[in-house]
Amino acid sequence: MRTVYVNGDYLPESEGRVSIFDRGFLFADGVYEVTTVLDGKLVDFDGHAARLERSLRELDMPMPMTRDALLEVHHRLVAENDIDEGLVYLQVTRGAADRDFAYPAEETEQTVVLFTQAKPGLAKAPEKGLSVDLQPDLRWGRRDIKTVQLLYPSMAKMAAKRAGHDDAWMHEPGGTITEGTSNNAYIVKGNTIVTRQLGNEILHGITRAAVLRLAREAQMKVEERAFTVEEAQSADEAFVTSASTFVMPVTSIGGKAVGDGQPGRIAGRLREIYLDEARAKAL
Ligand code: PDD
Repeated sequence: MRTVYVNGDYLPESEGRVSIFDRGFLFADGVYEVTTVLDGKLVDFDGHAARLERSLRELDMPMPMTRDALLEVHHRLVAENDIDEGLVYLQVTRGAADRDFAYPAEETEQTVVLFTQAKPGLAKAPEKGLSVDLQPDLRWGRRDIKTVQLLYPSMAKMAAKRAGHDDAWMHEPGGTITEGTSNNAYIVKGNTIVTRQLGNEILHGITRAAVLRLAREAQMKVEERAFTVEEAQSADEAFVTSASTFVMPVTSIGGKAVGDGQPGRIAGRLREIYLDEARAKAL
């Protein structure tokens, strides 16, 4: 049985409890982070801690503990649960209060929950690329805040799976792609990598920031701009990035093969250099 962290206590998972009045439960009034574990160490912990602080600030919530205290909780859970490859999930909500759309007038005690998931083989080279479906992006307008309000991405992923795909890329009226259901989306045309610019329309991926920096350091050309479904379907390569998938090739978009239908060379190269750095810098 796993050990989980709930509001200061390390408990067997069956003993973790949160109030039915928790605003995370009633209003999705909470944010989360997913940090990857490789070789028993945390990948880009500081990136995730910084984004957590930003998400909380956007919702008028403070950080529930210092960066060092948070790191210690992560390390203790990784050690107690003997995680070599996997992830640490963290969720912070505004806490319990009588149900009211207004934030509670009196400051509530935040709910802080962390747990691990073991994922042996996480960093193995993918045997094939992903087939992504196309689904309209019907999420709310503040996708830059990493809230636990994930029902639409979940619906879009299920629609994609029912249609025989692995995942979905979401698009807006006008036909531009925003991102995947739980990852950032990229296409490659010639030697140029194209991915949506940062804004309220997408999550500011921690993996995205690292991959774009590494791509530029490797003298690859990067364009941060919106791209259309048609551009994506006629691209030479495509891929996604996220904490748990690193850089993952996409070989089919909306039923059309991308390039020659095989995982792309640039995606493969970026995955290698990303994983090398992630392992070298992990805490
Ligand atoms: N998802 N876009 C969305 C909508 C996401 O949910 C995620 C992450 C990303 C990639 O962000 P990062 O590189 O920081 O993981 C982009 C996480 C992994 C999840 O919900 O499980």
